[in-house]
Amino acid sequence: MKRYGILANPAKHSLSPVMHNAAFKALHMRAHYEIFEVPENELAKFMKFVRNEPIEGLSVSLPYKEKVMQYLDKINKEALKIGSVNTIVNSEGFLYGFNTDYLASNKALFIDMKGRHVPTKDPIAVVIGAGGAARAVCYGLLKMGIHVWVANRTKEKADAIAIEFAEMFNEAEIHSNDLNDLKTGDILINTTSIWTKEPKIRIQNLPYFCSSEYVRKFKLVMDLCYNPLETPLIKAAKRIGIEYVTGDKMLLYQAVDQFELWTGKKPPVEVMRDALEAEL
Ligand code: ATR
Repeated sequence: MKRYGILANPAKHSLSPVMHNAAFKALHMRAHYEIFEVPENELAKFMKFVRNEPIEGLSVSLPYKEKVMQYLDKINKEALKIGSVNTIVNSEGFLYGFNTDYLASNKALFIDMKGRHVPTKDPIAVVIGAGGAARAVCYGLLKMGIHVWVANRTKEKADAIAIEFAEMFNEAEIHSNDLNDLKTGDILINTTSIWTKEPKIRIQNLPYFCSSEYVRKFKLVMDLCYNPLETPLIKAAKRIGIEYVTGDKMLLYQAVDQFELWTGKKPPVEVMRDALEAEL
């Protein structure tokens, strides 16, 4: 039985196991996907365990997408540029890092354009957050020629992304700011872990980026969080009546590419989608 899993903390809420286990079952593979909720002081020990056990493949989620890179033997070019890894392939004890998040973010935003009012001329996106997920989202947007404002509570992290990515892209611009000085644009994306970290946040304490006043300035909104699916940001978009993309879309697309990297097989996308939707 081959072992796979998700490395995150917290991880118990993850819906990755239902998607991957449904895919293994559909393809009659002797494989199982589990949850590895690892505290930060045990990350080094855990990565040794992954190498030796062996765990054949890992999904990586918050807060480890950047921190895990130091334990890998090789990181693919794109993941290195992004500066974060969400997928690890263990090939006989040799650990490879990949990033399937940036394509997944683009697919989630743009794959189903039918009826969606997506800006076509010089669009601007505002990305909230500057962790590993934000890096992939910004990279994907810039690759599509979309200008980006990246805003974060800790402004220095947004500055670092803007400086690194500005050097990589000529066609689209990226700038940084903090949450007290938010710019406006066409697309608004929340990549922060705020809803996971503060699930019981009171309405009066909600950040400005999900206020009606701010959200109504955009044409399309995406939240990467899928637990809950209806985050305060998605609720605001619904209330106002603008297009929105919930976190399950990017979750599915990043998992599909991950499955192919691990197994070399064509992923059963509809099986994975159905398994995910049954849990939402
Ligand atoms: P991921 O890998 O999913 O991006 P991460 O690297 O832990 O996770 O990043 C989490 C992001 O959520 C960061 O941008 C973090 O802001 P800081 O850099 O200031 O820590 C953001 N975040 C977490 N809790 C938040 C909160 N309560 N308000 C605003 N931003 C928050």
